[in-house]
Amino acid sequence: MGKSKVLVVGGTGYIGKRIVKASLAQGHETYVLHRPEIGVDIEKVQMLLSFKEQGARLIEGSFSDHRSLVDAVIQVDVVICTISGVHIRSHHILLQLKLVDAIKEAGNIKRFLPSEFGTDPARMADALEPGRVLFDDKMVVRKAIQDAGIPFTYISANCFAGYFVGGLCQPGRILPSRESVCLFGDGNVKAIYVDEDDIATYTVKTIDDPRTLNKTLYLRPPENILSQREVVKMWEKLIGKELEKTSISAEEFLAQMKGLDYAQQVGLVHYYHVCFDGCLANFEIGEEGEEASQLYPEVNYTRVKDYLKRYL
Ligand SMILES: NC(=O)c1ccc[n+]([C@@H]2O[C@H](COP(=O)([O-])OP(=O)(O)OC[C@H]3O[C@@H](n4cnc5c(N)ncnc54)[C@H](OP(=O)(O)O)[C@@H]3O)[C@@H](O)[C@H]2O)c1
Repeated sequence: MGKSKVLVVGGTGYIGKRIVKASLAQGHETYVLHRPEIGVDIEKVQMLLSFKEQGARLIEGSFSDHRSLVDAVIQVDVVICTISGVHIRSHHILLQLKLVDAIKEAGNIKRFLPSEFGTDPARMADALEPGRVLFDDKMVVRKAIQDAGIPFTYISANCFAGYFVGGLCQPGRILPSRESVCLFGDGNVKAIYVDEDDIATYTVKTIDDPRTLNKTLYLRPPENILSQREVVKMWEKLIGKELEKTSISAEEFLAQMKGLDYAQQVGLVHYYHVCFDGCLANFEIGEEGEEASQLYPEVNYTRVKDYLKRYL
C-alpha cells in the first residue's frame, strides 16, 4: 500500500504549518487548502508559496463553497484539519461541520483528523464556563464525524510547549522570567508538554496506522510529564539562579476572571483545569486510545529541558 495523499486544511496556522512540513518530510503527497479569503495577507501567501517550493500542491477551496471543499477532498485519502481554536487568536472549530459534510459527500476519505490537538474534550464534560466552549464545540464536531461514519483519529496533544513551557505554565506569558514565577497551589500537579514539531511528526505517523483507526492518540512523551515546579527547576538550572516564588490558590486564580475579557477568561479556565485539576495526566488511557511514544518509539522527542534552552 502506498502512502496516503494528505490534505491539510488550516495549513498556514501555528500547528498547521508544522503538519504540512511533517507530511512532506514523511513522504506523503501533500495538498494544502488555499482559501480565496486570504486576500492580501502577504505572510500567508508567502508561506503557501514556500510550501509549493517544498513540493506541496495548493488547492483552492472555501468554507463558504461546499462544491470547492468536495472537489478538494476528493483528490486525497486523508484530511487533517488544523483550523483555529484558541480564543485569544481566533476560534472557528464549528466551521469544520462544513468540512464534515464535504467529506461525507466525497465518500473516499480513509482518515479524518479534525482540529483537536489539546486536552481530550471527551473528558471535559464538567469543565467550567466559559472555557468549556472549546471542548463542547470539539465534541459537536466529533459527533458529526461519527454520525457520518467517517473514519477518524483524534489527536490529544496536551500542552503546546511554546505556550506552557515558554511561560513556565503561567497564563498570559510565553517567555520565561529570570526573576520570579507564580506557582499554582503547591506547584506539584503534573501536566504534559509537547514540542509542536513533535506533535506534527506523531500526527502524520498515525494517518496510515491501523492501530489508531477510530481512536484517540494521546501524546505523552514520558520525560515531559512534569509538574510546574519541575519545569521551573529545569529553567533555574539552565540560568544558574533560583527564581523568587509566590503561590496562588485555585480560588484566587479563578477570581482573576472578573477583570478579564471573554477570550482571556476561556484561556484562564483551560490553565485552571491543566494546572490545578491535572486533567491531562490524571487518567489511564483506555481501550479508546493509544499512546504516541509507545507506538512510535523511534521519534526522538524534544525533552522540556532542551526546549527551554531556546530561551537562554
Ligand atoms: N494544546 C495546546 O496547548 C493548544 C494550543 C493552541 C492551539 N491548540 C489547538 O490547535 C488547533 C489549531 O490551533 P492554532 O493555534 O494552530 O490555529 P491558528 O494558527 O490560530 O489558525 C489556524 C488556521 O485556521 C484557519 N482559519 C482561521 N480563521 C478561519 C476562518 N474564518 N475560516 C477558515 N479558516 C480559518 C487559517 O488557515 P488557512 O488560512 O490556511 O486556511 C489559520 O491559519 C485548535 O484546535 C486549537 O484548539 C492547542
